[in-house]
Amino acid sequence: MAKPKVFATHSLFDAARQTLQNSCQVEYWARPERPPREEVMRRVKDKEGLVCLLTEKINEELLRAAPKLRIAANVAVGFDNIDVAACTKRGVAATNTPGVLDETTADFAWTLLMAVARRLSEGEALARSGNWKNWDLDQLVGTDVWGKTLGIVGFGRIGRAVARRASGFQMKVIYTDAVRAAEEVEKGLKAEFREINALLAEADFISVHVPLLPETRGLFDAPKFYRMKPTAFLINTSRGPVVDEAALVAALETRKIAGAGLDVYENEPFINPGLKRTNVVLAPHIASASLETRTKMACIAAENVVALFTGQRPANILNPEVLKAP
Ligand code: DGY
Repeated sequence: MAKPKVFATHSLFDAARQTLQNSCQVEYWARPERPPREEVMRRVKDKEGLVCLLTEKINEELLRAAPKLRIAANVAVGFDNIDVAACTKRGVAATNTPGVLDETTADFAWTLLMAVARRLSEGEALARSGNWKNWDLDQLVGTDVWGKTLGIVGFGRIGRAVARRASGFQMKVIYTDAVRAAEEVEKGLKAEFREINALLAEADFISVHVPLLPETRGLFDAPKFYRMKPTAFLINTSRGPVVDEAALVAALETRKIAGAGLDVYENEPFINPGLKRTNVVLAPHIASASLETRTKMACIAAENVVALFTGQRPANILNPEVLKAP
């Protein structure tokens, strides 16, 4: 029997390719740049499977161009690039890669937090510039991290992994979420629940870990920045549109907040020039980018595809209603 045809919008990693090769006939996008939209639309025409990145929009237009498609497997935990309802309507399974990137992403939220608090970008630029003349008492003085209050917005797996790391810094941890965590989770992580406005007023560092949903889009707007301490820092490794970037730029310019560490942006890869300030540390959406984690993400997406084509339930299916009972 012919193997199902799959288009992967990236060459993936060897381990993921090996997973796919036995059950699928895969066409890989092997060029270094992301494939143009027309190219993706053209290549999915005769495909039953698609392995895609968060840079591809899987919407009604694409699904219409891919009448044979049975699965869209995202190599990301966030799936705001996929119109899951449109997939369901057309009987296309949608999958993501939860669980494997929590610790790596939490590490990176801390990387940004530490870097912005201790002015690492400025220090590194000075060290490389050849203009460092001498040690000085008040040179590049930053802000202590240890002993401060960490506010976590979104207390899912990644938010909790960020909280776990705070104990080494003797920090107080407060969090907010639509659903309060169980008492044993709060106790285990020594984390106290706060309503969002109380958290904004109390935290020295605010780390954002919510998915992008209609109710979280623009969550951090001008009134939210107004409630933060002028000495506080915002760290965002979730999704750019959770923060109203114009409001963030205004808050930074008017010193409503002390700084920010950002991995994600409203209109990636565009970065608002107003964010290119010395009190902002910028990264190009790399919070999960360790070789180990990105390999696992690709493997999970591949396993989801193989599961569907071998009559099993993909472990990370977002719309199980498309799986018909035998
Ligand atoms: C995700 O998985 O959603 C991240 O943004 C990329 O790892």
